[in-house]
Parts: sequence; structure tokens; C-alpha cells
Amino acid sequence: MLPCLTVFYGGNALNDLLVRLARVGIVPVIAMEDAAQAVPLARALTAGDIPVAEVTFRTAAGEEAIRRIASELPEVLLGAGTVRSVEQVRRAIAAGAKYIVTPGLRADVAEYCVKNDILLLPGCVTPYEMELAMDLGITTLKFFPAEQAGGLDYIKACCAPYPELRFVPTGGIGPLHLRKYLDFPKIIACGGSWMCPKAMIDAGEFDAITRLCVEAMKVRNGER
Ligand code: 3PG
Repeated sequence: MLPCLTVFYGGNALNDLLVRLARVGIVPVIAMEDAAQAVPLARALTAGDIPVAEVTFRTAAGEEAIRRIASELPEVLLGAGTVRSVEQVRRAIAAGAKYIVTPGLRADVAEYCVKNDILLLPGCVTPYEMELAMDLGITTLKFFPAEQAGGLDYIKACCAPYPELRFVPTGGIGPLHLRKYLDFPKIIACGGSWMCPKAMIDAGEFDAITRLCVEAMKVRNGER
């Protein structure tokens, strides 16, 4: 059963994106040096049953990679990650990203996304940041860096005062932790780079990436 998803702005279109994210339950976080790898990589993820990609702006190729995946594989639920300015939000959306992920909570970026009905998953750790996000109408948060910041126990503790929050924990998560996070109903998906390591992307080892995705989905489905 899918968790109850709520965003206070943007209505059904944004909730639909969250439902699609929750159905897959895993968000590959991608750093890519060469945009020529974007489409083969997205095909590799999809072949492994993970039609989701968070392509980060942490490399110069990120924006062009988003453009190529959006144009060739529109069925991929494509997010832009490591977005750190309003200007990058504009570029990511123009390139074809369907949602935005930020490492922290920036008021200018969050306000711009809310005003323009763009789904934003802001990185939040502290109750202070969580309340700021909720004040803006944002209730689904990236919890980053998840393992380093306190992991599942920390998220559970925050859900006591803030039952309306949902989380996409990211950072330090791997196949060993995945199941325990996803078993908690306030968590809609887990992000991470373990199924698309940068070294494999750089080396063009797309079949190996598909195999890691298949393994990740087995864990997600409780088959491992
Ligand atoms: C992110 O930006 O979301 C993280 O760098 C991904 O974390 P991981 O590489 O530890 O999975």
C-alpha cells in the first residue's frame, strides 16, 4: 500500500509525481561527467526496473544530461539534484526536469518552486528546517545526509511532533539499509548512488548498473 502523500501546494500534479516516486521507492542519484552517457545510463536504470533518475548539477554535464534524458526517454521520472540557486531551478526545468532536489533548504529556491508549482524535495535535517519547509507548504523532504545525520531512528523521532511529514532519506544508504527505511510508512523512497557508482558511469559499465538496479529492486520488494 502506498503511504498517504501530501503536498500543500501544487495539488494533484505534484502528488502524482510523489506517487510515481513511491511506487519505485528508489532514487538513483547521478553525477555524470559526460552527457553522452546520459541516455545509455537512463536506459540501464529503466532496464533494471528503476525508471527514476536524479541527475545532479554537481558536474558541468548535469544540465545537458537532463535535456537528453527528457527528450529521449520522457517516461523516466527525472529530477534535478544538487540544485543550489533559483537560476539552476529555471535551467533544470527548462531542460526537462520534472522535480527539484536541494541538499539544504534555501528560502529563495523553496519560495520560487512553491510559487511556480514545481515539486521540491528540500534537504532538511533539523526540526527548525522542517518547520520552515512546512511553513512554505512543503511536507515531503529529502532527509540528507541520512545515515550520517541519525538514520531511521532520527526520522522516527521527528515524526512524533510532525506526523504530516514524509521523507526521501538519502546519503550513506545502501542495500543493507534500504529495507529498514522503506518499511517505515513515512518514507516514500530512498535516494542513493550505490546502484550507479560514478566509477561505473565513467567507465560506461551500464550492464553492471542494470544488475545493481535489479538487486536493489529485489531488496525493495522484500525478495532479499
Ligand atoms: C546525495 O547527494 O543525495 C548523496 O550524495 C547521495 O548519497 P550517497 O552517494 O551516499 O548514496
